[in-house]
Amino acid sequence: MKPADRISRLPHQLFAGLVRQVEDKRRQGIDVINLGQGNPDQPTPPHIVEALREAAGNPLYQRYISFRGLPALKEAVAEWYWDKHQVRLDPSREIAILIGSKIGLEEISLALVNPGDRVLAPDPGYPDYLSGIQLAGGQLVPWALTPDRDFLPDVDNWPDNTRLAFLNYPNNPTGRLAPAAFLDAAIDQALRHHTVLAHDLAYGDIVFDGRKAVSLLSRPGGKDAGIEFTTLSKSYNMAGWRIGFVAGNAEVIGYLELLQDHLHCSQWGAVQEAARVALLTSDASVQAVRDTYQARRDAFLAAAGEAGWDIPPSQGSIFIWCPVPARRSAMEWAARFLEESAVMAAPGTGFGSHGEGFVRIALTESIPRLEAAARRMAAILE
Ligand SMILES: Cc1ncc(COP(=O)(O)O)c(C=O)c1O
Repeated sequence: MKPADRISRLPHQLFAGLVRQVEDKRRQGIDVINLGQGNPDQPTPPHIVEALREAAGNPLYQRYISFRGLPALKEAVAEWYWDKHQVRLDPSREIAILIGSKIGLEEISLALVNPGDRVLAPDPGYPDYLSGIQLAGGQLVPWALTPDRDFLPDVDNWPDNTRLAFLNYPNNPTGRLAPAAFLDAAIDQALRHHTVLAHDLAYGDIVFDGRKAVSLLSRPGGKDAGIEFTTLSKSYNMAGWRIGFVAGNAEVIGYLELLQDHLHCSQWGAVQEAARVALLTSDASVQAVRDTYQARRDAFLAAAGEAGWDIPPSQGSIFIWCPVPARRSAMEWAARFLEESAVMAAPGTGFGSHGEGFVRIALTESIPRLEAAARRMAAILE
């Protein structure tokens, strides 16, 4: 049977392929160190699990709830934004609840992009931006992130008729942060060109060496220019729970809410209640998550360095963007790491053509396994 054109247009799902390869190896009895996918390995803090347990018994959450999510969660998001980023938000107009941020990052293209409209997306970048652009029939304009520009796209070259532009800092896959001045320049260009900025702040809490991630909405004009996506998946080890939110420009939030009225009945109320508890009570657990990833980053980099593999440190995110020698492609290196080192690393070109020359590792295994992976990978680079 033939699928609709929009299904045929969908790009190859990188992570589904990586998961399959790891499963194949494990079935053969090979203990693969899986650094391919950014799937947090730590448990959700117990007080959040307890909040879910309690909320599960609430008859209110056993029925359909408001399509637009729990007002109490939106209020908690507003409080979180004020505490973290000194941004004031109107919970009823400037915040939407998402069943994980992945779905929101795809819905934004469906809500704003007409067939043929241009959409800027980072290259390398999180692959699901592209899925949404494809589903909407938009025209992808890759935005190169290269080491010589500190992995920041060139905002001075802004194509005309660009409807939407994705940004993501702390960045997946490169691990870089964006300075406030960069966001200001992007806001200026977006307003000038009537482009909506969609900033993905998935790793906003996971920043290293005392740095701070900058919220788009905290910058002058940020709320006029766009919206910002946040997830609880990484900061609270809640990837399986599927809960996130998007905030910012009220008009754009309104379009997303309308689209979601037609697509979902919102996330289970008990998960939303637990997310509310997480946002309002979990600073110490978020600090612990940040410390864990920083210690893992340091361990991987030290082990790689001792083995002669020099890798620039990530500033944030749960990833390290590792340069690999140009005599082979990133795909070939990733295949060799899997075959010869029993390490799954994601090939840089899985995130776009400008990912050539890199593989991405996720800091989602213990320090001893990360050190072992670094040594085993470095050994075959020579
Ligand atoms: C940059 C980025 N954005 C968004 C997401 C999606 O997160 P979730 O759908 O779990 O909220 C991820 C997940 O890995 C990510 O790396």
